[in-house]
Amino acid sequence: MSRDRLVAVTGANGYIGSHVVRVLLERGFRVRAGVRLPHTEERIQHLQEMPIAKGGSLEVLATDVLDSSDVNALLDGCTDLIHTAATVMIRSSNPEEKILSPSVDGTMNVVSALELHPSVRNIIHTSSTAAIRPMKWESGATLSSEVWAEDATIENNPYGLAKVLAEREIRKWHTDVGTKQGRTLKTIHPCMVFGPPLSSYHLRGSLTILMMLARRSIPAIIPMNINIVDVRDVAESHVRALDMGEDGGRYLVTSGSMWMKEVVALLRKAYPKHRWPRIPIPYPLAVLAAGVHPAASISWARTHLGTVLNWDSRPAQNDLGMSWMQPSSSVIDTFKPIFDSKWL
Ligand SMILES: NC(=O)c1ccc[n+]([C@@H]2O[C@H](COP(=O)([O-])OP(=O)(O)OC[C@H]3O[C@@H](n4cnc5c(N)ncnc54)[C@H](OP(=O)(O)O)[C@@H]3O)[C@@H](O)[C@H]2O)c1
Repeated sequence: MSRDRLVAVTGANGYIGSHVVRVLLERGFRVRAGVRLPHTEERIQHLQEMPIAKGGSLEVLATDVLDSSDVNALLDGCTDLIHTAATVMIRSSNPEEKILSPSVDGTMNVVSALELHPSVRNIIHTSSTAAIRPMKWESGATLSSEVWAEDATIENNPYGLAKVLAEREIRKWHTDVGTKQGRTLKTIHPCMVFGPPLSSYHLRGSLTILMMLARRSIPAIIPMNINIVDVRDVAESHVRALDMGEDGGRYLVTSGSMWMKEVVALLRKAYPKHRWPRIPIPYPLAVLAAGVHPAASISWARTHLGTVLNWDSRPAQNDLGMSWMQPSSSVIDTFKPIFDSKWL
């Protein structure tokens, strides 16, 4: 019964965290939403306005995952935990502090709090395809969840490294302690997440690339193939994994891929009044441009531009009963709230 359950969610105001909270409340779970301060309108109003099914409830608790006492308070009395908090950023002048620490130190605090709160029986950790994808791959390859991004370093792939180290941290606890106590752990590995933002606050992270197209801050279309999954499917898989799936399961959640030029063509058709970029940028120029863009790098561009990578998400289909929204629907649906609420 969901009403007997109290689910803690870290990063609950984030793009994925907010949809996770929405699904939990729709199913009548009691939710303790961990959101670090400040609790401004843009960051928490959308949570407070969510419909709640019978038996459900929402409590928003100030939670910085870098503060162990906050994480302890968040988990106190909870039966389940969905740990989504991390920084979604591929490049920083201070990757140790900005990218690694929120993921790794945050997860270490979660692990310490799990030791103190045995009432938490089921743990879902949001990992990423970034924890799986090595720096180099054969274009056209299909990766499965047995692979780890072993070659990620703080210099070449700080985000991948952060996701690997955080996941290893919580898996080590699970193997050493959690399984012996009958406590379950599953990790969810989304690729690039698109779909409706619930607040203007969500127009960062993975939506940055679509926002750059909409704002024409990249004036041309880059030769990039994007693996897409819808945020609604990502949230659904987190909530299903509380009760379904294999203990220790590592679930890739991916739908399909689209080239950037297909994304733009789709958006132009769906939103013809908006001005979208028109001109494709050739590969060598795109690599050079990535080198000077604050959110990209030359090494990132060499791996991600002009290549195709596939993911095996069949375990999530088989074990969690997932089916996937079409990438085209995710792209179009991303912009409905953005245009309706005039967030551009
Ligand atoms: N979006 C994607 O394409 C994608 C793909 C694969 C995996 N993921 C993973 O999914 C998770 C959620 O990402 P998202 O896309 O929802 O990004 P997001 O909107 O930026 O959400 C990240 C959340 O983490 C929180 N957070 C960061 N540092 C924190 C700290 N020290 N204490 C408490 N909360 C903290 C953020 O809080 P603030 O609002 O206070 O910053 C925010 O609520 C992350 O683990 C990410 O690695 C995302």
